Amino acid sequence: MDISKDMTAAPRTIRRDDYTPPPFLIDTVDLVVELFADSAKVVSRMAVRRNPAAVAKPADLVLDGKKMDLLSVSLDGRAAAHEATPETLAIRAVPDRFTLEIATRLRPQDNAELTGLYKSRDIFCTQCEAEGFRRITYFLDRPDVMARYTTRITAEKSLAPVLLSNGNLVERGELDGGRHFAVWEDPFPKPSYLFALVAGPLDCLEDRFTTRSGREVTLRIYVRPGDVPRCDHAMESLKKSMKWDEDVYGLEYDLDTFMIVAIDDFNMGAMENKGLNVFNSKLVLANPETATDLDYHSIEAVIAHEYFHNWTGNRVTCRDWFQLSLKEGLTVLRDQQFSADMGSAADARIDDVRRLRAAQFPEDAGPMAHPVRPDSYIEINNFYTATVYQKGAEVVRMMHTLLGPERFRKGMDLYFQRHDGQAVTCDDFANAMEDASGVDLAQFRLWYAQAGTPDLKVEGRYDAAARRYTMTVDQSLRRTPGQPDKKPMHIPLSVGLLDGAGRDLPLKLAGEAAAGGTTRVLDVRNPRDVFVFEDVPEKPVASLLRGFSAPVKLQAPRSEEELTFLMAHDSDPFARWEAGQQLGARLILDMVAARKAGKPMVVPDLFVDAIRRTLDDQRLDRSFIADAVTLPGLAFLGELMPEIDIEGMWAAQQRVRGVLSQQLADRWSSVYDANHGSGPYRFSPEEVGRRRLRSTALSYLSTDKGEAARRRAVEYFENAKNMTEQVAGLGVLAELGGAEGDAALGAFHERWKGEPLVLDKWFGIQARTPTGDTLQRVKQLVDHPSYDRKNPNRVYSLIGAFASGNPVQFHAGGGAGYRFLADQVLATDRFNPQVAARLLAPLGSWRRYDAGRQTLMKRELARIVAEKGLSRDVFEIASKSLD
Ligand code: ARG
Ligand code: ZN
Repeated sequence: MDISKDMTAAPRTIRRDDYTPPPFLIDTVDLVVELFADSAKVVSRMAVRRNPAAVAKPADLVLDGKKMDLLSVSLDGRAAAHEATPETLAIRAVPDRFTLEIATRLRPQDNAELTGLYKSRDIFCTQCEAEGFRRITYFLDRPDVMARYTTRITAEKSLAPVLLSNGNLVERGELDGGRHFAVWEDPFPKPSYLFALVAGPLDCLEDRFTTRSGREVTLRIYVRPGDVPRCDHAMESLKKSMKWDEDVYGLEYDLDTFMIVAIDDFNMGAMENKGLNVFNSKLVLANPETATDLDYHSIEAVIAHEYFHNWTGNRVTCRDWFQLSLKEGLTVLRDQQFSADMGSAADARIDDVRRLRAAQFPEDAGPMAHPVRPDSYIEINNFYTATVYQKGAEVVRMMHTLLGPERFRKGMDLYFQRHDGQAVTCDDFANAMEDASGVDLAQFRLWYAQAGTPDLKVEGRYDAAARRYTMTVDQSLRRTPGQPDKKPMHIPLSVGLLDGAGRDLPLKLAGEAAAGGTTRVLDVRNPRDVFVFEDVPEKPVASLLRGFSAPVKLQAPRSEEELTFLMAHDSDPFARWEAGQQLGARLILDMVAARKAGKPMVVPDLFVDAIRRTLDDQRLDRSFIADAVTLPGLAFLGELMPEIDIEGMWAAQQRVRGVLSQQLADRWSSVYDANHGSGPYRFSPEEVGRRRLRSTALSYLSTDKGEAARRRAVEYFENAKNMTEQVAGLGVLAELGGAEGDAALGAFHERWKGEPLVLDKWFGIQARTPTGDTLQRVKQLVDHPSYDRKNPNRVYSLIGAFASGNPVQFHAGGGAGYRFLADQVLATDRFNPQVAARLLAPLGSWRRYDAGRQTLMKRELARIVAEKGLSRDVFEIASKSLD
């Protein structure tokens, strides 16, 4: 008889509709945290009172808590009747208002989940979002309980010379026995998920920022001793972010210090704790020798993101975790706007859309599809998703599009005016936008509620006699798990019409007195909408979904000639890039079909000509050219196929690359030579564009894998003047394989084996190599002395990169990749469920593949679900994936 089943009750589902206000409130929390080499003792003294807005009046106060030893509980100074379970602590029959003091003991050095209080090397640090605070002390660990915190930290001075927490440092001093203490006071009430504590041997880079109302803010970036010289870019990014938020949104910083700490072992990117942001070190440390342009860019964007949370997230926070996109979607939009202002707006938008299509569209089409505001979850950590973040940002961006910048800003002002200091909902945000602008967002709110990517079909008809152009728009939304029936959405569709010379025509919709502008946002609201443009002098070419005005899949029966015309002429740079992607995708999918039917794969001259013209266009900047000559990725292409044909897509994509490589060989050579560059590294849009274009040319020049290509790639790699070039060269050489590839990988490892962040790149490049026996190599790398299964960056750079970033190899080999991934998920789940659950995602897309692969992928999911002692994190994803 198997009794183990009875012990593992199915995890509970939490539902949005079950929300009730907290029965108690906690006004102040005084924490005393004593840190020792092998444990930490936490005493929490809380001022608790009944919530006047509560619906129920329970006798007991039930607190959240897990994985701690409870040392003592006292209420108003006397022992209190209480009862602990593995995840709660009930205090019996409490009065209306009281002081509660709880002592707990924890073992940070054994905490491999990296949530709550843990150690990264010799640094104590915390991660409390979403539910980590309950691993530090018993608490009402929910975002609508906001308290003022005072934190006293003590530690041995030699072990932890630096002691940090939220807010302002109010006291510090020496204690007996080589110990010292610091007291931090945060004047702003905050939810527990924003609590942070850091202690350890840290150096810091210090700078200042004066806010526009004259507040002097001290800025400090804390890193491991020796890393201070790698903090300049992060500091510059922070100051730019602070200035930008004042200029664009009128939002100023509100404390006297702003601190960032870089940590090597961190489950995700970074965390916006009040006044004390904690970052994954890969998003802080940079110099030209060790960080790529992409790293520089990510650092700038994430520093901005976390800083912007100070208003969108901290000053106004979420009522409950279903509202996560209230802060994340809005803050991602803000960091996207910031990135657009720091460099080329067109490149920034192309980047946003690429990421959305590669990560969010597949999610919306898979078993974990959920609305931007989810209705239920088993484990909240599984909902820090591309849907909540990236699609959430698109939803706020659509409001921006519908309202226009001025009214959007008014809406933001009203939002802060109404809700500063509160924990609110996505509806509150939409209400503020609606009330400030007078724009009706009733139907628009469906974007928060309905999962799935809408399909939009657009057809145009020109009536020469009536000089009229009629656009018919059909929308539909496929069913997603738990949502069989969908309502039509309110979709802002931005369009333009081009004349035969490629110029924008003035647009006049039927019923309007005069033409107004050359780009119009059409309100699509019904299953079918018809828009009539008048006084159209000639048959136009329609430019659709300018700026990617809505996160939809657009289908429009445009000829290849029309797409190449838009590629050459569209005044909207996004639409111009998009026309090339659509053309490339159509071509590749045609080739896949031909290959399947046993016919030859042909690359039409028209496409080659269009790419040639793009390369020759002197008006375009280099980044845009690099974007435009890069073929659509496999994730995006796969979404366009009823059944994903990995081999077909890969073969077709390689064929197109080969043809472009050959037929435009002279162009790639001259682009490669002309963009050599000189002088010291600069992270400027021009220089980044130059490096990107040059490495793109190198990669085209390497497709034939010939002798000349090998020699050129080796030369490029060996003469690399910065990490951007080294990584680009190494990627090409790894794909070329052979002696050159092995030599380069060996040299790179030898040079960088002492730099964890650079080593991650070394693992990642090998895991993403689409050629050769990659799985075999990845398996060997798991046993490599430089591999560290406890370090999330390392795990993501090897296992994650292989499973999510190398579809060709992951899906090859009769299921060996699937089996390997499942083994890794199960092994990781024993100590870090969050990381394990993230690795698992690619198996969930089994429905999108052929029957053979479906069986193999499902088998691994079933094996995972059957495992005893599975975490809630992995259980939720694996079981929902099988549903
Ligand atoms: N709030 C953080 C951010 O800025 C991310 C926190 C992620 N937490 C988690 N449990 N996955 O995006
Ligand atoms: Zn965030």
